[in-house]
Amino acid sequence: MSGSRLLGTGSALPRRVVTNAELAQKVDTSDEWIVARTGIRQRHIAGPDETTSTLAIAAARAALADAGVEASSIGLIILATATPDNTFPATATKVQAALGCQGGVAFDVAAVCSGFLYALATADSLLRTGMARRALVIGAETFSRILDWEDRTTCVLFGDGAGAVVLEAPSDQSEGVGILATRLHADGDQHDLLYVDGGPSTTQTVGHVRMRGQEVFRHAVVNLSDVLKEVLEETGISPQDLDWVVPHQANARILDATARKLGISPEKVVVTVDRHANTSAASVPLALDIARKDGRIKTGDLVMLEAMGGGFTWGASLIRM
Ligand code: UT7
Repeated sequence: MSGSRLLGTGSALPRRVVTNAELAQKVDTSDEWIVARTGIRQRHIAGPDETTSTLAIAAARAALADAGVEASSIGLIILATATPDNTFPATATKVQAALGCQGGVAFDVAAVCSGFLYALATADSLLRTGMARRALVIGAETFSRILDWEDRTTCVLFGDGAGAVVLEAPSDQSEGVGILATRLHADGDQHDLLYVDGGPSTTQTVGHVRMRGQEVFRHAVVNLSDVLKEVLEETGISPQDLDWVVPHQANARILDATARKLGISPEKVVVTVDRHANTSAASVPLALDIARKDGRIKTGDLVMLEAMGGGFTWGASLIRM
């Protein structure tokens, strides 16, 4: 078992923090309801000068610095986002220009909250083919721009941010480390449970997030525990062998229920939803970076990443750091 190795991680958050109490002044909600139902206490919201690309660039720079590699060594940039700066070109090309690593491959991936897992698997596959030696994989979102700020059932749930990792193609030295296994899934029949009610080819508007929360919740717990089991079975690893789980941060109750279903101790689950809310494609790399930088996740640890979102799409990836 040997896959692409993680050389470094980075993240970025908008400057402005918005508390539940501040939201309760705008919509009919309360800090008590939001904390009890979701675990969210605050979120970061992008200001006028902050966009998906500015957050992505900051996270990418932090990941390059952490990895100790030059931007010029990056031959592949994959950016997962549902909130690109423009309909086209891909926001990844803006990142490429800002970092000054021209000449390689750069494109966006749209799989909403599972986007980072989809991007990571795509980068791993392309690195294995020799397309590039090093890749930047980024999840970056400004969901605040597609929220209906009068809909209390969605606007309290999301935040903005970005996370990034530097990946290197497998080599003789990387046996047993890096991305060990990934499984991805999609079920387009569930499209209408979580979607945006606009787009260039339908309404010619950006649209707003719409969600049937309870139904998404039910599917999330089942799909996530199933895909985690798949990856564990494929690699012959038991849930107790995992050092850390870094889940998509949608709702603290989903994290608890999924961990409980698999017999994973809650202390091994990285939780950032209280501080960041749901940052869609950014949430997994953001949480991974936080847990590495605060010293929890160390070199050699066995870490499971997992996410589920609109589509539905979902997936999990097992990594030896
Ligand atoms: O990232 C992609 C994946 N997304 C998710 O995984 C989200 C999954 N879903 C969830 O996290 C939860 O379903 C929510 C947090 C969205 C909602 O929690 P819930 O426990 O499922 O609540 P609910 O939708 O059943 O609503 C309960 C009540 C309703 O009132 P009634 O009908 O019982 O009178 C809602 O109208 O809470 C009401 N409510 C609110 N009250 C205060 C809904 N939103 C709010 C709010 N503040 N913000």
